[in-house]
Amino acid sequence: MRSRTIGLLGLGTVGQALVSIIQEVHPDLHVAKALVRDVNRHRTIDIPMTTRPEEILFDPEIDLVVEVTGGRELPRQWITQALAANKDVVTANKEVMAYYGSELLAAARQSGRQLRYEAAVAGGVPILDALTHHLSVVPLRRIDGVLNGTCNFILSQMEHGASYTEALAEAQRLGYAEADPTADVGGDDTARKVLLLAQLGFHLEAAIESVDTVGITGVTAHHLARLETFHLGLRLVGSAIWDKDSLSLRVAPTVYRVPHPFLDLEGPDNAIRVVSQAGAFWFQGPGAGGYATATSVISDIFRIRTHNGSLNPPPPGHYPIRQATSRYVCFTHDPDQSLPLGLPGELQRLGSYAIVAPGFSQEALDEYGLCQFLWGEET
Ligand SMILES: NC(=O)c1ccc[n+]([C@@H]2O[C@H](COP(=O)([O-])OP(=O)(O)OC[C@H]3O[C@@H](n4cnc5c(N)ncnc54)[C@H](OP(=O)(O)O)[C@@H]3O)[C@@H](O)[C@H]2O)c1
Repeated sequence: MRSRTIGLLGLGTVGQALVSIIQEVHPDLHVAKALVRDVNRHRTIDIPMTTRPEEILFDPEIDLVVEVTGGRELPRQWITQALAANKDVVTANKEVMAYYGSELLAAARQSGRQLRYEAAVAGGVPILDALTHHLSVVPLRRIDGVLNGTCNFILSQMEHGASYTEALAEAQRLGYAEADPTADVGGDDTARKVLLLAQLGFHLEAAIESVDTVGITGVTAHHLARLETFHLGLRLVGSAIWDKDSLSLRVAPTVYRVPHPFLDLEGPDNAIRVVSQAGAFWFQGPGAGGYATATSVISDIFRIRTHNGSLNPPPPGHYPIRQATSRYVCFTHDPDQSLPLGLPGELQRLGSYAIVAPGFSQEALDEYGLCQFLWGEET
């Protein structure tokens, strides 16, 4: 294996962890320089820095670029330039891959370089590698994932009685949530990751807009307390579901019976269940954090170095995207009120709640004084 000279775009949480792991245990890798916004900012490690991307992208000594800045348009431009300059690229950036992945992977194929992005989904959990290699030999039925640690933390705080606003403020205080948490709580972050999982698992070409996305902003502590009385719990779940000849992609607050592995996730850990013709496979581990994320980045660097497979998916199929046929858990807002008789579409009445299909319109919900959440299990 030949040694690699790495140019780093970004020296924040992931970038600094990456450099410190490389300096500690991988002397055969060399990080030549890092792109930052502010060279005077305090860092935990000491390497040459620049604010000029071209010093990395066009340096002939650098043969591998790692992009860990975040955002969309600039990383798109930098990754394209790096591939065109004959450099392999590793990124941890789910946003750029969800919006421009097809274009960037095509650019990688055209230039004969590799573009890998294991860290973009579930941080340190090697799920993309598993989908690309081990699980690619068997048809998949569905992929479900709890993929956002911020939402896990907020929901578990609300289960302990905090309001949504209090839980979000605590998440921000502890550094679990960004100052602008919209992408996390609104479900967009999970949608990006589900799209990347579906692209590899189902060889899918689809735009991010095809993921039907609902976040957790409408969930209240009252909902969670009511669910608890039914021995149910809720997490934000992203799903890609194959049915006969079409696929549905969605993100929604989803209810499971206690105990369930998804309900145990209270912080940065992520979990993914891949259901295939060979059975269900579970993956769980740290979905965020500098060290865990950097581990996936280094694993990608090793894969590139040994020419050991690629995350470039095979040519995509053009599957119809459909609305999922879903079942919902339905219950009254008021614990003293029982479920009305004759619910439209009722499937299964279980004491004080029912599992119904399809979901009610907002008008019907209001008329019956009901709330509903997606039911995550097969009925
Ligand atoms: N943190 C995690 O746990 C985690 C997990 C999975 C994936 N990721 C992904 O990894 C990427 C990096 O995340 P992070 O947490 O390390 O971010 P971060 O701590 O905010 O670091 C970003 C770095 O990029 C630099 N940067 C940003 N915009 C720049 C620009 N326009 N020009 C030059 N430098 C720029 C910043 O420079 P300054 O330091 O000078 O500001 C900083 O060093 C993101 O795509 C994120 O989604 C992160």
